[in-house]
Amino acid sequence: MHILITGGAGFIGSHVVRHFVNSYPGYRITNIDKLTYAGNLENLRDLEQCANYHFVKGDITDGDAMVELFVSEKFDGVIHLAAESHVDRSIANPTEFVMTNVLGTVNLLNAARAAWKEGFNGKLFYHVSTDEVYGALGSEGMFTETTSYDPHSPYSASKASSDHFVRAYNDTYGLPVVISNCSNNYGPFQFPEKLIPLFINNIRNNKPLPVYGKGENVRDWLWVVDHAHAIDVIYHNGRQGETYNIGGRNEWRNIDLIRLLCCIMDRKLGRPEGESEKLITWVTDRAGHDFRYAIDSSKIQRELGWAPSLQFEEGLEKTVDWYLESQEWLDNVTSGEYKSYYRKMYGE
Ligand code: NAD
Ligand code: TYD
Repeated sequence: MHILITGGAGFIGSHVVRHFVNSYPGYRITNIDKLTYAGNLENLRDLEQCANYHFVKGDITDGDAMVELFVSEKFDGVIHLAAESHVDRSIANPTEFVMTNVLGTVNLLNAARAAWKEGFNGKLFYHVSTDEVYGALGSEGMFTETTSYDPHSPYSASKASSDHFVRAYNDTYGLPVVISNCSNNYGPFQFPEKLIPLFINNIRNNKPLPVYGKGENVRDWLWVVDHAHAIDVIYHNGRQGETYNIGGRNEWRNIDLIRLLCCIMDRKLGRPEGESEKLITWVTDRAGHDFRYAIDSSKIQRELGWAPSLQFEEGLEKTVDWYLESQEWLDNVTSGEYKSYYRKMYGE
């Protein structure tokens, strides 16, 4: 079994690669990644010597290169995670999201068709998507697999478009596909532009914590390793052509999560209680800010027996510990491009 994982040097991708390389020593795992600002081979250093792991630096927007790679490597399956993934960056530069998330996905679908033209038996194209394609909820209800798509940000619009292409290739060409739509992930190796690692880094450095709007937006948070396990069960046991929603059943208002994080950080850093909360700064709301996401993951629980493993408080402690122990990693990823991104987004 030879599986291509795209975007494996990113946050979730690195956990998925690690999970597959360690759990399936008989599989060959190839990771293709462009190594953008969000992709970092440090995230996979522990796997460098593994005989069943192989890295290819490549760009999924290069259609010819993707066909060449697929034809020469003869993959049995693809787990596609490579994407531009940050909503704020998509507001600043939507075109890049169209290129990677839409065109990149179509290139991979074309490459799979070209390489698998003798027949699709035993093949699978697994597309990793987000709950953000469903739009925003009010204070009630949850997204199910049949909720209509209603994306609001350029990021979610590009992911929705890529999901549609994946389904279209299933309907039109019979390409065997499966899609999962997951809620917000957290854990080690997340780039410090997303809420949790950004705020951990800022608290540590005594920098303001920029809370958008009133901090009342709600997200459903999932431990990233649980997402990697869900991808494993869907890859092996999911029904072709189906969609599975993955979520933590773990909704938090941003401000409540931020206060909990401040409290954990005070304790870990030996600061007086309440010290880190003083860094909270209210800033202008994100344009088109989705109010609430909540995932009904009963289908994957019922059909495939998957459930989240970790309580959020425990996961957040583990996450904080990892970032505090990984100062070198943080220093590396926050040098260079990060500084100009940060200045542009938040000022000094
Ligand atoms: P990330 O930004 O941390 O990583 C993305 C990876 O893709 C990086 O390693 C980057 O170098 C690579 N990449 C970007 N453009 C590329 C290109 N043109 N060619 C090859 N590689 C390229 O993202 P993440 O948070 O790990 O998200 C991974 C996937 O999961 C994405 O598809 C995202 O939409 C989806 N997802 C993320 C979350 C979340 O909470 N982070 C939740 C649900 C779904
Ligand atoms: P984020 O981690 O960017 O994930 P997403 O927007 O994909 O859900 O943001 C999570 C929530 O935190 C979202 O409601 C926006 C909010 N947020 C802030 O209040 N301040 C920030 O600096 C960031 C990055 C996010």
